[in-house]
Amino acid sequence: MGRFAQLRAAGTGFVVDLAATPVPVVVHWGRDLGELDETGLAALAFVGEPAVLNNSVDVPRRCSVWPTEFEGWAGTPALEGHRGGIATTPRPRLVEHSLADNRLELVLADEITGLRITLTYTMDSSGVLSAQATLAAPEAIDAEPYEVASVSILLPLPSQAVEVLDFTGKWCRERSPQRTRLGHGAHVRESRRGKPGQDSPFLMTVGAPGFSFGDGEVWALHVAWSGDQRYVVEQLPETPPVLGGGELLRAGELRLGGGERYETPISYFAWSDEGLDGLAARFHALQRKRPRSPRPLVLNTWEAVYFNHDLDRLLALADAAAKVGVERVVLDDGWFRGRRADNAGLGDWQVDKTVWPQGLTPFVEHVKGLGMQFGLWFEPEMVNLDSDLARQHPEWVLGVPGEPGPPSRNQYVVDLTNPEAWTYLLTSIDALVAEYGIDYIKWDHNRDLHEAVDHTGRPVVHNQTLALYRLIDELKVRHPGLEIESCASGGGRVDLGILTRTDRVWASDCNDPVERQSIQRWTGQLLPPELIGSHVGPERSHTTGRRTDDSFRLATALFGHAGIEQDLTACSPAEIDKLTAWAAMYKELRPLLHSGRVVRAELPDDGLFFHGVISNEHGLFSLARISTSPAGQSWRVRLPGLSRARDYRLRIRAELGLPSMRQVRAPEWVTAAIDGWVRAPGSVLVDAGVAMPTLDPGQALLLEVIVDRA
Ligand code: DGJ
Repeated sequence: MGRFAQLRAAGTGFVVDLAATPVPVVVHWGRDLGELDETGLAALAFVGEPAVLNNSVDVPRRCSVWPTEFEGWAGTPALEGHRGGIATTPRPRLVEHSLADNRLELVLADEITGLRITLTYTMDSSGVLSAQATLAAPEAIDAEPYEVASVSILLPLPSQAVEVLDFTGKWCRERSPQRTRLGHGAHVRESRRGKPGQDSPFLMTVGAPGFSFGDGEVWALHVAWSGDQRYVVEQLPETPPVLGGGELLRAGELRLGGGERYETPISYFAWSDEGLDGLAARFHALQRKRPRSPRPLVLNTWEAVYFNHDLDRLLALADAAAKVGVERVVLDDGWFRGRRADNAGLGDWQVDKTVWPQGLTPFVEHVKGLGMQFGLWFEPEMVNLDSDLARQHPEWVLGVPGEPGPPSRNQYVVDLTNPEAWTYLLTSIDALVAEYGIDYIKWDHNRDLHEAVDHTGRPVVHNQTLALYRLIDELKVRHPGLEIESCASGGGRVDLGILTRTDRVWASDCNDPVERQSIQRWTGQLLPPELIGSHVGPERSHTTGRRTDDSFRLATALFGHAGIEQDLTACSPAEIDKLTAWAAMYKELRPLLHSGRVVRAELPDDGLFFHGVISNEHGLFSLARISTSPAGQSWRVRLPGLSRARDYRLRIRAELGLPSMRQVRAPEWVTAAIDGWVRAPGSVLVDAGVAMPTLDPGQALLLEVIVDRA
């Protein structure tokens, strides 16, 4: 290797100047600059070197791979910490490096802190760059431990990247987008909930002002971690904007004694010049490397029966589900000892014999006998004080001993760093998975972690998160076919740390399609549709009270890992027929929806959402009206992602019922596309668009497109 390390894939380039001192400098992250030789790369570094400013250090200030004050860096540093109150000024130097298979490894030795830092950057074939650091303390065991306060992996951005998009939210309104204009200073987002939370920044994206789904240059970061975390985008007057983050550590949480190591979570960085859809495509490609069987259509019992577990009722529900075409039945909360409401039982992971006198066997056998998989709800990390677990092991409850603070949903957190508690959970879940042949676990987590200290008073979110990962990993080793869903009061734990070892997320407890359109649209910014649980609820939403048409609910739930969450035994024959048609449609379109490229469009009308999934030959689009608008027309909508050079046929899928519309006569092509295929050149669809009918609010139109070979 010469002076430069260059990682390249799928149009993205990342270049590091290894000769820069004291540590290498990132000279480029963004569009692939092509196959540059050493001369070209030297020119890249040379012409990019900034001026030396007045009232400033006498060397040009650039963003190194490990920014420190030693280099004159006045922004967020890569490392903060101390050894007994000193060693606070890291001075790392590059001592080793290697580059192979698009993976760059840099080893830095720091004479002040004594740490040896290994930084790895790996460019995936999707163009997503993963970055990770390992800090190793020296072997000398008599030395005072080094206390790590923070580690941030930072990458430079160009100066035009000043518009920030990240996310916030609450229960039933996850991943609500927010845009901010970056000035001088830092835009910082932190989670101190022991999980990413419903208001997780999720994917911090920065771009030139006005970037949209289809257009603009954007740079983004996702921290793949299920505990506390921190994201920052920062610009100072003298240095380029930087984007970075990592785990958020509490004071005293991480102390590296002799020979101990700390591995940061992976930070996933991605760039695109095709706007937010381009970014999403990279993250989807990354996650689609893991092979998955077709995502089975789910029935979840929660909103159908809540805690009212009654075998006959559940058997009838399973029968109805099988008739509709369901492939997996998930028995939600309420099956274990003492769990008749949400104030007791958590922690006692044995079947409640008062409700299930023969155990779960009659139900499980019935479900499996109908050809469906069986899933079961757990909330392993939680405990009610009204449980045998809490009575027998108060020391397993996380928090200040004897005074664990206020409950949240009547519950507390189990200290997974306690080996006995961890083993109890593993043994209990393992036994049930083995006994009932459980195919799927819905793994819930319904409270924030506050004062998350063990019984010595030591903060534990870091170790708690690792213990959670170990627990899931061990269950997966013991039961290789077992699938797990990450749920946290809906979508409170959606991150690529947990998704490395689980199989989908529950995006939200909100099944109201009006809200779901937005939640799924933005959850899809990081996750492909097949990882996003999306269920059809009843006419009146249990979480918003809003009434919606079934065609809108069905069309919304189609674009994810679909399921049903309502009492099918209370549905009319007409409703069952509709659900059955929808189930067949889901199975027909599943290969497309779960492998294609997700495309979205910004429309001038805020009340109108347009999105789709397309493959080479086939596409399904949805036009959804969320609210009315002052405009009479919905105007021509361009169909993103199709080829201008090909001819297409389009039709409106009417199996779920046609949306209600508000006009004397719909555009003529709509009538024709309901009756059969309408032909149109790709350039017309992509660049001119099709005139849309004016839908009533709470309605969706499904438009299917195929390549016209005639
Ligand atoms: C919260 C989840 O998000 C719901 O789907 C449901 O499983 C309940 N917990 C059960 O208590």
